[in-house]
Amino acid sequence: MRLISSVNEMMAWAKEQRRVGHTIGLVPTMGYLHEGHLALMRRAKENCEKVVVSIFVNPLQFGAGEDYEEYPRDLTRDSQLADSAGVDVIFAPAVKDMYPKGYSSFVEVEQVSDHLCGAARPGHFRGVTTVVSKLFNIVRPEIAFFGQKDAQQLAIIRRMVEDLNMGIAIVGVPIVREADGLALSSRNVYLSPAERKAALVLSQSLKKAKELIGEGEGEAERIRQAIIEVIEAEPLANIDYVQIVDNRFIQPMERLEGECLIALAVRFGKTRLIDNLVMEV
Ligand code: PAJ
Repeated sequence: MRLISSVNEMMAWAKEQRRVGHTIGLVPTMGYLHEGHLALMRRAKENCEKVVVSIFVNPLQFGAGEDYEEYPRDLTRDSQLADSAGVDVIFAPAVKDMYPKGYSSFVEVEQVSDHLCGAARPGHFRGVTTVVSKLFNIVRPEIAFFGQKDAQQLAIIRRMVEDLNMGIAIVGVPIVREADGLALSSRNVYLSPAERKAALVLSQSLKKAKELIGEGEGEAERIRQAIIEVIEAEPLANIDYVQIVDNRFIQPMERLEGECLIALAVRFGKTRLIDNLVMEV
């Protein structure tokens, strides 16, 4: 496995791979890799001859007062994990190489970013779509892999690729969870033991929603209230949002129909966690 930090070197490597006819798969990450990231890499390895994993804590997608500085970083550990998943290149650029002095170009996807984390974290998705566009242009992959864990991010990237004719196939990979149901996240390391236990209400509340829908409940507000009730029973949990939207346009729905996304963001102390469930009704 190769570690590349220069943008120019990354572009040259990818160009050479394309010249010899290799398909390139890209897995964008912010590092501090866990089994969720590794699932994306293994999937990429199945689908592509060469796999590039980018590791870049993107300052542009963190708001003021968010955890950019504290975000966990460990490139040595990440390299070992990526290597074991069969990755060919880790691309870990420096901030000043990605956003040099005078940097002025941004990519914004409207509407799909109006609700959920788009509303809760202004500017966040503008940072995500800008950095992902740059990574797409640098690596020019055939296929890029994203987790269903960040369902709105996935919907926004799909929209961007379609709207801007980027010609890259986007593959969504299911959420990887701990045995007790907590979705894996690099931010789980922030949780105290009590918060870690409390965080189980996320998957438990989604399980409750799934049961209700299975029993025929189709009223979004009633499902939302049932979720809120489960979460509010946990004193350490503070709800940021609980929303039910369609999974493609990420717009709120009153009655469940088609592919529905039930999305949550909840704070435990200063740690904000997200989780979701997609149901076809
Ligand atoms: P990061 O949070 O590091 O996540 C990188 C990728 O791993 C994303 O596509 C995310 O959805 C996926 N992922 C994270 N946890 C997962 C889990 N438990 N199961 C399945 N997939 C999971 O998302 C980002 O970084 C950034 O916004 C990025 C796209 C890299 C742009 O900076």
